[in-house]
Amino acid sequence: MCGIIGYIGEKPAGKILLNGLRKLEYRGYDSAGMLLLNKDKFTRIRSVGDIDKLEKKINGQWPKGKMGIAHTRWATHGGVTEKNAHPHFGRAKEVAIIHNGIIENYRELKEKYLKNHKFSSQTDTEVLAHLIEKYHQKHPLKKAVESALKKVHGTFGLAVISKKEPDKIIAGRSGSPLAIGVGDNQYFLASDATPLLTHTRKIIYLDDGEIAIIKKNNSYIYKIGNNNQINKKAQNIDWNTEEAQKGGFPHFMIKEIYDQREVFMDAIRGRLRPKEGSAQMGGFNLKDKEAQKIDRIILLACGTAYYSCLVGKYLFERLAQIPTEAEIGSEYRYRNPVIDNKTLVFSVSQSGETLDTLVSQREAKRKGAYVRGIVNVVGSTIAREADGGTYIHAGPELSVASSKAFTNMLAILTLYALYFGRLHKMSFETGNKIIKELEKIPGKINLILKQNEKIKKIAYKYSKYQNMLYLGRGINYPIALEGSHKLKELSYIHSEAYPAGEMKHGVNALLDKDFPVAAIATKNNLYEKMISNLEEIKARKSPFFVIATKGDKNIQRMTSDIIYVPKTIEILEPILNVIPLQLFAYHCAVKLKRNVDRPRNLAKSVTVE
Ligand code: M6R
Repeated sequence: MCGIIGYIGEKPAGKILLNGLRKLEYRGYDSAGMLLLNKDKFTRIRSVGDIDKLEKKINGQWPKGKMGIAHTRWATHGGVTEKNAHPHFGRAKEVAIIHNGIIENYRELKEKYLKNHKFSSQTDTEVLAHLIEKYHQKHPLKKAVESALKKVHGTFGLAVISKKEPDKIIAGRSGSPLAIGVGDNQYFLASDATPLLTHTRKIIYLDDGEIAIIKKNNSYIYKIGNNNQINKKAQNIDWNTEEAQKGGFPHFMIKEIYDQREVFMDAIRGRLRPKEGSAQMGGFNLKDKEAQKIDRIILLACGTAYYSCLVGKYLFERLAQIPTEAEIGSEYRYRNPVIDNKTLVFSVSQSGETLDTLVSQREAKRKGAYVRGIVNVVGSTIAREADGGTYIHAGPELSVASSKAFTNMLAILTLYALYFGRLHKMSFETGNKIIKELEKIPGKINLILKQNEKIKKIAYKYSKYQNMLYLGRGINYPIALEGSHKLKELSYIHSEAYPAGEMKHGVNALLDKDFPVAAIATKNNLYEKMISNLEEIKARKSPFFVIATKGDKNIQRMTSDIIYVPKTIEILEPILNVIPLQLFAYHCAVKLKRNVDRPRNLAKSVTVE
């Protein structure tokens, strides 16, 4: 996720762009840049860090120009450096672009169409800039952008300006949002309405596959590759800035739960290898031969990230048969863990700053393990200190309670387990089946989100209780733990999670009509066992709701509080099953009037002991 903004009008563009970037900073903040066009001169200013750093660099010397583009970055391809910050130029610096999204086939584009080109950054975006400029030598800017986009696989929300056509900005969208702001003698463009609302309330949202020519007095919208203009009316938006940042959702938490539809794809995109039935992670920095020697995996994390590691343990053991342990950072750092040079340690962290995870990582490194990060925040300490690793690409997560980072951690752990599985005994067919199922996950997440109203009703019903018990078995036991964790931190309702097989060993004593249960009973090899556990719960008169597989009518005889999730393969069930539990916890918190995005006594990033 990055933030982009463009302006064309009669006012000096610099301050408008900078103020706009500030409002977009919630979308990314590792580096930023702006470019203004004045007559036939581009002025570009970029810097590493947040928007304050960019303003410092400008130092009051605002570049001249009444049109320009600007970008705040959340790195995907290429590290956090000034050279990688946007805007990017084409080879002759005739064209400049800003881009939010991922060009998956940028290497192929480079080799096929831009053989002798030299690039000054490591970004996929610069490749696109060169390609557009190449076509622009023969074609008008719109046609040049369309010709380049036709060759692109991936996602984009982009804005392009050219010295040769200084009266327009070209914008295009596929998979990354774009909004046009309609003003008087001035038009705007941005990733969302947030930075536009101080200038205008009239917003036109571009849809996927659309391209716009934006001039200071009008905008013209087309399907990419088509010259028939589409008539789109501006909507009147009455959100305030904060509401706009939340995309119309009342809290970041619920927005981020919904973000999972898109960002899951960002985690797996470009990392699947269908021809080999495997996966490949660019920053892993271990050759297959070295990876084959790994005989032990340790997954280090805290909180929600730790629960993703518990799922990871199932994944690595099931797919790759490598003994794997999930370890809590605050415990691990004070042990004397057994580690050798065949041990691979993954530190899993949204923020990349969690102190206990970081200190444990240092300890593992000191003892000679291979240490890799699975991290969201680019350039964070864990990411920097690890000897490689993989970004989960969930985009900034602002709600203190984690949601989309969790599902993207699961995505990356699945890819690593797939990779190690294929290095060992997993068949090509099994690998391929996993890949196909992974690609279907975003659609299935969407189907679960469509049941939001139903989940809300269930949450409102259960939010009156003081306690809650979460049950799961096998790979869904960590999801029971995560569901319980979400409920505690968001709603302050006390809850516990158990593997359902443990009930008879003590927990059954808790059950009565005032002690409700949330059970995960999707159709997998432990389904029958889970049904027996539900019978026991029913016999003890505990109210309960169930996460079940779509089409499972059997479950209806036990309770009417059922949330159906689409069928997937067992190893991917956690990714789907956690979503209703996130929504459940969220709605309980709303009903109880909790501070949803900032639960009491908690912080987003725990950088102290
Ligand atoms: O940034 P990290 O993923 O390392 O954070 C770990 C935990 O602090 C975090 O998951 C915490 O439990 C969240 N509040 C969970 O929603």
